[in-house]
Amino acid sequence: MMLTTRQDRVAVVTGAAGGIGQAICRQLAARGAVIVAVDLNEPTETLRLLEAAGHQSIGIQADVSDLDQTLHVGEEVRDRLGRCDILVNNAGIYPRYDIDELDHATWRRVLAVNLDSQFLMVKAVLPLMKEGGWGRIVNLTSNSIGLASPGVSHYMASKMGAIGFTRGLANDVAAFGITVNAVGPTMSRTPGIVSAVPDAAQQHISQLQAIKRVGEPEDVVGTIAFLTGEDSYFVTGQTIMADGGLTRL
Ligand SMILES: NC(=O)c1ccc[n+]([C@@H]2O[C@H](COP(=O)([O-])OP(=O)(O)OC[C@H]3O[C@@H](n4cnc5c(N)ncnc54)[C@H](O)[C@@H]3O)[C@@H](O)[C@H]2O)c1
Repeated sequence: MMLTTRQDRVAVVTGAAGGIGQAICRQLAARGAVIVAVDLNEPTETLRLLEAAGHQSIGIQADVSDLDQTLHVGEEVRDRLGRCDILVNNAGIYPRYDIDELDHATWRRVLAVNLDSQFLMVKAVLPLMKEGGWGRIVNLTSNSIGLASPGVSHYMASKMGAIGFTRGLANDVAAFGITVNAVGPTMSRTPGIVSAVPDAAQQHISQLQAIKRVGEPEDVVGTIAFLTGEDSYFVTGQTIMADGGLTRL
């Protein structure tokens, strides 16, 4: 079977300046989608790579944990492109704190960036998706939900929340031709991980996987391409771990 993404699809990708977000943008663009690259930081390098490859894209700088800013993203997409077919909620942060050090402000920030953002971005683009009568939403979760790692209780709560949101939302939007699924990467060599996690710890995680090599941002994009493409229309509410076989759901 030939997996397809129709040529004029508009795909909004959050966290598009980061490692996995950039890889998602490149993959969906290569399949013909017009990319809306959303990030807290200007996604300059992502836009440069897309342009160099001859792909159509726009960048929007926004904090996706903020209601007003996500509504602005929705308005920009409507005004400039007139449609939204695909939303990949990829933006995320993963600061480590043991429970004794974890304060309420950090807990709320992680939940806001990793989980509220998914809800807010859905609210921002859902009217456009419904108008189009077709949609694909992918929420990023994490391999950490299956690991006994210390210092990530807040992160695990946010990423389990993403799975719950995915399961629930799938029911509410199915009648509009919209599917909702979650994808969990393994620990992958992105700017965020390389700066925060020692190489030995990355190697350790890789040895827990069935496929024993450290993940790369590109390792999840095929799964996301399938779930955002034409052929996955009967798959919704699911969580797929593209994590080298670490987690078995
Ligand atoms: N890399 C991994 O090992 C790994 C493993 C499992 C899950 N994940 C998940 O994959 C996603 C991407 O991770 P990554 O490693 O590519 O991260 P990264 O740090 O390389 O990139 C994340 C991007 O999100 C952006 N961002 C952060 N807060 C934002 C906000 N409030 N509004 C808009 N943009 C914001 C950052 O500016 C950055 O460009 C995250 O949801 C992460 O939890 C990553």
